[in-house]
Amino acid sequence: MAHKNLSIRILEHDSVEQLNAGERALVDISRSMTEKAYAPYSNFYVGAAVLLENGEIVTGSNQENGAYPSGLCAERVAVFAASARFPGVPMKMIAISAKSACLSIDGPVSPCGACRQVMLEYEVLQSDPIKLLLSKESGKILVIEKVQDLLPLAFTGKDLKRNDHH
Ligand code: THU
Repeated sequence: MAHKNLSIRILEHDSVEQLNAGERALVDISRSMTEKAYAPYSNFYVGAAVLLENGEIVTGSNQENGAYPSGLCAERVAVFAASARFPGVPMKMIAISAKSACLSIDGPVSPCGACRQVMLEYEVLQSDPIKLLLSKESGKILVIEKVQDLLPLAFTGKDLKRNDHH
């Protein structure tokens, strides 16, 4: 029997001022993207901005639907758009922010399980980490070094590899 401990490193900044210029710009864009959310049912407005290795920034916001499960989170809107527009171009960083007029948001928004899984797919594919910057409209920023940190023991496409007999 073996005990295995997993640990993750999270950097917590008090405000955007403590980030470097590139990180700060991306957080600012994700914050401004909350204004573009279509979230009439939850009133929870999320913005995401993906910085690609080629310097492009692809953005997204959550898009809800009257048939609730048909909507999509900001992260997946942004990441799918990035991969659709720039297939195979590695993703360096993703900033995510949330805002609400009527809900009290405690701290930086944390991506849902499905979005973690989707972001991990591209991280595994490119084999370089995608840094995550989590925030809300103001205040603290959490920096996570790689998506894998938020999804330990993940199922990935590698688990679907065929063996030699097929
Ligand atoms: N949402 C996101 O867009 N990203 C997150 O990280 C958390 C949740 C959206 C989905 C839904 O439109 C609303 O926020 C409430 O769950």
